[in-house]
Amino acid sequence: MVPEQDVLTISTIWSQLARRAEQEKTLHLADWFASDPDRFARFSLEDAGLLADFSKQRMSDEIRDLLVKLADERQLRHWTEALFGGAEVNCTEGRPAKHWCLREPADRAPMVHEQLDAMEDMVNRILKGHWRGVMGDAITDVVNVGVGGSDLGPLMAAFALQSCLPPQGLSRPRLHFASSMDGSQVSQILQELNPRTTLFLVSSKSFTTVDTLHNATTARQWLGRGLGLDCDDASLLRCHFIGISANPERMSEWGIMPDNQLLFWDWVGGRYSLWSAIGMPIALTVGMDGFRDMLAGAHEMDHHCRTRPWENNIPVMLALVDVWNINFLGINARAVLPYDGRLKHLPAYLEQLEMESNGKSVARSGEPVEYGTCPVIWGEVGPNAQHAFFQLLHQGTQPIACEFLMTARRYTEAQHFDAVCELEAQHSLSNANCLAQSRLLALGERALDPEVALPSYKRYHGNQPSTTLVLEELSPRVLGALLAMYEHKVFVQAVIWGINPFDQWGVEMGKVIATGMLEVLADPESASGLDASSLALARHIAKRQK
Ligand code: F6P
Repeated sequence: MVPEQDVLTISTIWSQLARRAEQEKTLHLADWFASDPDRFARFSLEDAGLLADFSKQRMSDEIRDLLVKLADERQLRHWTEALFGGAEVNCTEGRPAKHWCLREPADRAPMVHEQLDAMEDMVNRILKGHWRGVMGDAITDVVNVGVGGSDLGPLMAAFALQSCLPPQGLSRPRLHFASSMDGSQVSQILQELNPRTTLFLVSSKSFTTVDTLHNATTARQWLGRGLGLDCDDASLLRCHFIGISANPERMSEWGIMPDNQLLFWDWVGGRYSLWSAIGMPIALTVGMDGFRDMLAGAHEMDHHCRTRPWENNIPVMLALVDVWNINFLGINARAVLPYDGRLKHLPAYLEQLEMESNGKSVARSGEPVEYGTCPVIWGEVGPNAQHAFFQLLHQGTQPIACEFLMTARRYTEAQHFDAVCELEAQHSLSNANCLAQSRLLALGERALDPEVALPSYKRYHGNQPSTTLVLEELSPRVLGALLAMYEHKVFVQAVIWGINPFDQWGVEMGKVIATGMLEVLADPESASGLDASSLALARHIAKRQK
């Protein structure tokens, strides 16, 4: 068993950090850089194809050292070993969190590799055109039906890796993602598809999520109608549905054929599941070799996280910087800003990974926490965000931490033979903007000529801290390392805050109440004990539906 933690705020290191924060409030990042031109060398780390620059964070060596001591005091070493040792770190659900095991080599995780091999067989049959629809056609379109972790991870990574060359000699199917329960996505997707050549992946850890089951049922009915009466339900299920879940019984009950089932396990949290067969859309994009490269990159980051001293450890430093910003500088929002459009879905993926994991207010001990935990996280492709919410970052009233992501290498001749020069110029333009924005946010108007006097409405205060992450290139391996880095960062923060990042009880209550609301919507007058607002809204809707 993992021992209980002491109360965080009575730690002497916590008090020392609070005192440092008071002094820090009188300083400006422009002064940090003016007095310390070597900051970058001391506040940047590199490994596994990633460079992390923390030098634009409002922090000194002394603050960093105190944060590292805080990590020790919170027994980070012990907890890291508990995670990687398979202890029950998910205390409210009584299970370990072994997503890292999904990227272990075959000799250490045979069960995992058995499923990977089964997945490989299916992926190759689809990519080679051997998987046939019920009328004998090759598959041209694959629809991933899932939500939360069964959607955001595969969507984000498959989209990010689309520019990688397809597996040699194979043709990728077009990928589609249907997640929202209102049917708006699935209806739009189905309008454009041919039922004879469409395959559905029903992805759900629990296989009980209503959003996914309703979308899957709509798809099943669409196939039945589209393929005509000649086709029986069993053939349709065998040729057009693959199920991916930790619940084989529920998959079978729904109708997924045993040979079409891919499994993962209870000890993989939904938002940590893209490394399992839930990642099938990624494998359909880069082939199984590419998918295994992504696992290898993540494994490299697991090793980094487990073995590097905290001050040289990228996920640990990312976590500690956030703790400093949130708990000591009072910065309760973070913008994720990729300057490479292929990472367009990364903010949404991180919103779930971080906010569903660490959006908690009760400690492992069961006591309420007395300090802030996960901040509000949102984001957008950086160049587009510049024309949307950057005004608030530059001249608004909120302190906001930013996370910039750039890729060093981008286009290759093989990918874009004709336009490669122009596209390279666009890549440089985007990276230049990324550097410009982080510089301006940090230094404010002192990034410009100090002699120029500006009217007040043109002034930039600056002092908004940021971290910049540079990816060597957006390959499966580096993406794997990046995502594992974020997973470990979330875990480290949870250890500092003494919370469980692996449950999501807050989401569960909403599901229960929604079931009751269906009855209210059907007949508002039969509802009892409902609040006045909900009842009036239900009546309003019912009246307009007549
Ligand atoms: O949002 C709650 C949640 O349980 C997530 O943690 C999970 O990723 C999502 O629902 C989908 O769950 P499932 O994969 O079981 O359908």
